[in-house]
Amino acid sequence: MRVTNYGHACWMLEVNGKKLLFDPFISGNELAKHIDIAIIKPDYILISHGHQDHMADVIQIAKASGATLISNFEIITWFAAKGIEGGHPMNHGGSKSFDFGKVKMVNAIHSSSFPDGSYAGNPAGFVIESNAGNFYFAGDTALTMDMQIIPKFTKLDFALLPLGDNFTMGIDEALMAAQWVECNTIIGMHYDTFGYIVIDHDAARQAFEQAGLTLHLPKIGESIEI
Ligand code: NI
Ligand code: MN
Repeated sequence: MRVTNYGHACWMLEVNGKKLLFDPFISGNELAKHIDIAIIKPDYILISHGHQDHMADVIQIAKASGATLISNFEIITWFAAKGIEGGHPMNHGGSKSFDFGKVKMVNAIHSSSFPDGSYAGNPAGFVIESNAGNFYFAGDTALTMDMQIIPKFTKLDFALLPLGDNFTMGIDEALMAAQWVECNTIIGMHYDTFGYIVIDHDAARQAFEQAGLTLHLPKIGESIEI
């Protein structure tokens, strides 16, 4: 599976010939100035929660690509009112099959509100199952016991976990999350974008290595095959 880092929590995953873009926040990211949003043409945009650092570029990319949004009911309804219609609403614990594979919306411990302060539903992560591989996109979350449910249903090939601390779990908790979801291959996200969440990359890699885990920290704009 091809995995491209567009910075912060924004990733493109190519699954069975379909492009899934997660949490688009590029134009407002100082570290992603070299990314041209116009070339990003996903088939689906998955949105974990209502914060601007996860959905600032949804409208522009959805309009240019015609991508289908997948998120919670509140976020899908909010974007429909802004002219991005045809999105697929879900809620926690629910699964739905699409043409690339199955999406399950899972718990995240965080907050979620729209820029105007209105209610954006509860924050989520996603578990994707497909015949090309299974992965977990944690979204913004604390370490939560709910992660232990995931491997009861899905054998993960890799997981995208936040590492930046302060707003989400940090490296120590991400190590435990990797164990709880029973996954040895981790892609780090949600770090370095703001001063609050700058991490020491070498220390992070070492911590994962010592735990017998593989940590990928691709550069912004870089793609890896996993
Ligand atoms: Ni957030
Ligand atoms: Mn965030």
